[in-house]
Amino acid sequence: MPTLEPDHAFAAGILLLAVLVFVGVGHAATESEADALLAWKASLDYPATMFSSWNKTAPVCSWLGVSCNAAGLVESLRLRGLGLGGTLDELNATALPALTTLDLNGNNFFGAIPASLSRLRSLAELDLGSNGFNGSIPPQLGGLSSLVGLRLYNNNLVGDIPHQLSRLPRIVHFDLGANFLTNPNDYLRFSPMPTVTFMSLYLNYLTGSFPEFVLESSNVTYLDLSQNNVSGPIPYSLPEKLPNLKYLNLSVNAFSGQIPASLSKLSKLRDLRIATNNLTGGIPDFLGSMFQLRVLELGSNLLGGAIPSVLGQLQMLQRLDLRSAGLVSTIPPQLGNLGNLSFMDLSMNQLTGVLPPTFAGMHKMREFGAASNKLVGQIPSALFTSWPELISFQAFGNSFTGKIPAELGKATKLGILYLFSNDLTGSIPIELGELVNLNT
Ligand SMILES: *[C@@H]1O[C@H](CO)[C@@H](O)[C@H](O)[C@H]1NC(C)=O
Ligand SMILES: *[C@@H]1O[C@H](CO)[C@@H](O)[C@H](O)[C@H]1NC(C)=O
Ligand SMILES: *[C@@H]1O[C@H](CO)[C@@H](O)[C@H](O)[C@H]1NC(C)=O
Ligand SMILES: *[C@@H]1O[C@H](CO)[C@@H](O)[C@H](O)[C@H]1NC(C)=O
Ligand SMILES: *[C@@H]1O[C@H](CO)[C@@H](O)[C@H](O)[C@H]1NC(C)=O
Ligand SMILES: *[C@@H]1O[C@H](CO)[C@@H](O)[C@H](O)[C@H]1NC(C)=O
Ligand SMILES: *[C@@H]1O[C@H](CO)[C@@H](O)[C@H](O)[C@H]1NC(C)=O
Ligand SMILES: *[C@@H]1O[C@H](CO)[C@@H](O)[C@H](O)[C@H]1NC(C)=O
Repeated sequence: MPTLEPDHAFAAGILLLAVLVFVGVGHAATESEADALLAWKASLDYPATMFSSWNKTAPVCSWLGVSCNAAGLVESLRLRGLGLGGTLDELNATALPALTTLDLNGNNFFGAIPASLSRLRSLAELDLGSNGFNGSIPPQLGGLSSLVGLRLYNNNLVGDIPHQLSRLPRIVHFDLGANFLTNPNDYLRFSPMPTVTFMSLYLNYLTGSFPEFVLESSNVTYLDLSQNNVSGPIPYSLPEKLPNLKYLNLSVNAFSGQIPASLSKLSKLRDLRIATNNLTGGIPDFLGSMFQLRVLELGSNLLGGAIPSVLGQLQMLQRLDLRSAGLVSTIPPQLGNLGNLSFMDLSMNQLTGVLPPTFAGMHKMREFGAASNKLVGQIPSALFTSWPELISFQAFGNSFTGKIPAELGKATKLGILYLFSNDLTGSIPIELGELVNLNT
C-alpha cells in the first residue's frame, strides 16, 4: 500500500475534511432553507399553480423567485407583483443566513413587519413596498448592517420612524413614503445618514420644522418630503448641507417665509417642487439662473409680485407651475424662449395684458393653462399651428376678445379646450370638426 509522506497525508486529510464539511453544511442549510420556505408558503394565499415549482423534488435553487449563491445557499427571493397574500409571520429568517435580497413589492401582504427580519444578517435589499403591511416599523431593522436599500413605501405603517434606522451603516436608498408615520418628538436621537442618496418620506404625518437628521444627511441627491405637515422656513442652510441635491420636493406642506436666496447655490438642481405651501415674498430672479432646472413648481403659495422675465432663460425647463401664486403682472414675452416646456400653468392669478405671440416658440407645449386671470386681446392663432403636441388648452375666465381662431383645427391632438367666460365672438370654426379627441 503506497504511503503518503506525512505532510501530504495531513494536507489530504484536511482537504477531505473540508469537502465533507462543505457538502455537509451546504446540504443541511439547503434542506432547512427548503423547509423554511415551504412552511412560509403553506401560510400564504397565492394564485393556483404559482408555487408548483416549490416542492421537494426540485432543488430549492430552481424554485420560482429563488436564486442561490456559489455555495448553493439561497441568496435572493424575488416575488414582485405575483398576487401573493398573507403575512411574514411564518417566515423563519434564521434559516436564510445568506439572503441578500428580499423583494415582495406589489403584493397583498399585511400584518406586522416582523422584528425577526433583523436576523437576515446578509440582507442588502429589503423591498416590502406597495403592500398592506401595518403596525409600526420594528426598530430592530436598524441592526441590518449590510442593508443598502430599504423600501417600505405605500403600506399602512403607523407610529414613529424609529431612530435606529438612522444608524444603518450602508443605507443608500431610504424610502418610507406613503404610510401613516409620525416623526419622533425627539429628532436628537437620530444620527446623520451620510451614505443615503435617495430619501423619501412623502405622504406621511411629519410635523414640526424641517427634520434635522435629513439636513445632516449630506450625500442626498433626491429628497421627497412632500405631502406632510412640515412647517417653518425652508432652511437657509439647506444648499450648504445638501449640496448634491438634484431633486427637491417639499410640496404640500406648511412651509412659510421666503424662497431662500441660498437655493441659487444648488447648481445640480433639476427639479424644484415647493408648490402648495405658505411661501411669500415673490418669485426670486435667481431662479432664472438655475440653468439645470427641468421642473419648477411654485403654485398654490402666497408669493405675490411679478413673473420674472429671466425665467425665459431656463432652456431645459419642461414643467412650470405658477398656478394660484398671487401673481400680479403681465406675462413676460421672454417665456416664449422655453423651447422644452411641455407644461405651463399660469391660472388663478391676477395676470393682465395679452398672451404673448412669442409663446408660439414653445414648440413642445402639451398642456397650457392661463384660466382665471385678467388677460385681454386675442388668443394668438399661431399657438395652434406651432404646438403640434397640444392636448389641453385652458383659457377660460379671462377677457379675451376676437374670434375663436380657426387654426384650432391644426392642433390635432387637442382633447381639452376650455374657452368659456371670455368675450370671444363668432362661432366654433368648422375646422374643429377635424379634432377627433376633443372634449370641451
Ligand atoms: C415540482 O417542481 C418541478 C420543477 O418545477 C415540476 O416539474 C414538478 O411538476 C413539481 N412537482 C409537483 C408535485 O408539483
Ligand atoms: C428556524 O430555522 C432554524 C435554522 O434552520 C432552526 O434551527 C429553527 O428551529 C427554525 N425555527 C422554527 C420555528 O422552525
Ligand atoms: C393589521 O391588519 C390586519 C388585517 O387587516 C388586522 O387584523 C390587524 O389587527 C392589523 N394590525 C395592526 C397592528 O394594525
Ligand atoms: C456619497 O454618494 C456617492 C455616490 O453617489 C458615493 O460614491 C459616496 O461614497 C457617498 N458618500 C458616503 C459618505 O457614503
Ligand atoms: C399641521 O401642524 C400644525 C402645527 O404645526 C397643526 O396645528 C395642524 O393641525 C396640522 N395639520 C394637519 C392636517 O395635521
Ligand atoms: C416629488 O418630486 C420628485 C422629484 O421631482 C418626484 O419624482 C416625485 O414623484 C414627487 N413626489 C410626489 C409625491 O409627487
Ligand atoms: C399662512 O400665512 C398666513 C400669513 O402669513 C398666516 O396667517 C396663516 O396662518 C398661514 N397658514 C398656514 C397653514 O401656515
Ligand atoms: C432642450 O433641452 C436640451 C437638453 O435636454 C438642450 O440641449 C436644448 O438646447 C433645449 N432646447 C431648447 C429649444 O431650449
